[in-house]
Amino acid sequence: MLVPRQKLHAVGPEVSRLSWGVWRAQKGDETNTPAKLATFVEACAEVGVTTFDLADIYGNYEIEGLFGAALRERPTLRNRIEIVSKFGVCNVGTGRPAHRVKHYNCSRAHIEATVENSLKEIGTDRLDLLLVHRPDYLAPAEETARALEALVAAGKVRSVGVSNHTPSQVSLLQSKLSLPIVTNQIELSVLARAAFSDGTLAQAQETGASPMIWSPLGGGRLFDETNEAMRPVRDALGAVAARRGTADIAAVAIAWLLALPSRPVPVLGSTRIARIRVLSKAAAIELDRWDWYQILEAAQGRLP
Ligand SMILES: NC(=O)c1ccc[n+]([C@@H]2O[C@H](COP(=O)([O-])OP(=O)(O)OC[C@H]3O[C@@H](n4cnc5c(N)ncnc54)[C@H](OP(=O)(O)O)[C@@H]3O)[C@@H](O)[C@H]2O)c1
Repeated sequence: MLVPRQKLHAVGPEVSRLSWGVWRAQKGDETNTPAKLATFVEACAEVGVTTFDLADIYGNYEIEGLFGAALRERPTLRNRIEIVSKFGVCNVGTGRPAHRVKHYNCSRAHIEATVENSLKEIGTDRLDLLLVHRPDYLAPAEETARALEALVAAGKVRSVGVSNHTPSQVSLLQSKLSLPIVTNQIELSVLARAAFSDGTLAQAQETGASPMIWSPLGGGRLFDETNEAMRPVRDALGAVAARRGTADIAAVAIAWLLALPSRPVPVLGSTRIARIRVLSKAAAIELDRWDWYQILEAAQGRLP
């Protein structure tokens, strides 16, 4: 069964229910050259993972170029996939030697320059989705909104969203923007659960904007056998996996996210295609209320 598709928001865009994050590509033996990455992207698309998550800063500002080189290896891929990228975080390092301090920048000039560069690096004429990576405390929301609208009007960006925004930061930008914010890409996993209680997931249901989920497996910490603190949650995932007739606790951890009513889209980070194939089955694993809360209780301790 292929990974199902869904709209992030009533107006779109349509994405795969599981996305792949390109962040770790330089470190993976199966993803660290254009040719290998092209094969990997093709293999993702074959199981229905067609949405790819990038950012200008990933890999010391080099990941978009690597992804673009992979697409040039297989030009037919571009029209079979959706490309997400982000702007707004400015890192210090050899990728941007002019930066003196790490900072955020959501000014119009920075947004326009970053998107032009992303399009050039990726070798495409449009981004399917552009996200504000983090809010910039110095940029008026009005200015960011006008820049996003201009990019959509010019056809360079199809939809816009945010990442790592609090509910009130989402509301502020939305109040100045004539386009819907189609997602807030946030950290969420059995190990990172703040979004349950800080209003983020409640807002996602209220606005109908499905969240994209980064580090859905805690960045791999869940599988660290040397970390005793992970044992209870791994045991609970294992018990549910056995009940649901699957062997893979990672797939159950992804199914745990997919069960949420805001219809999240986890962004998978594994650089191994065998793992992506296993995780692609997560949408078929149905958890009942007992399964779901057993995992939550193992992760956070007794519920009040
Ligand atoms: N918006 C933001 O601020 C933000 C921040 C961080 C990340 N992101 C996005 O989120 C994406 C995913 O983040 P992530 O890489 O931390 O996600 P993740 O899926 O939680 O973690 C992936 C890591 O877990 C490891 N892993 C170990 N055992 C695994 C298993 N059984 N199954 C799957 N993975 C296993 C993987 O190693 P192998 O590669 O060896 O499988 C990989 O290093 C990134 O690529 C990026 O696009 C966004």
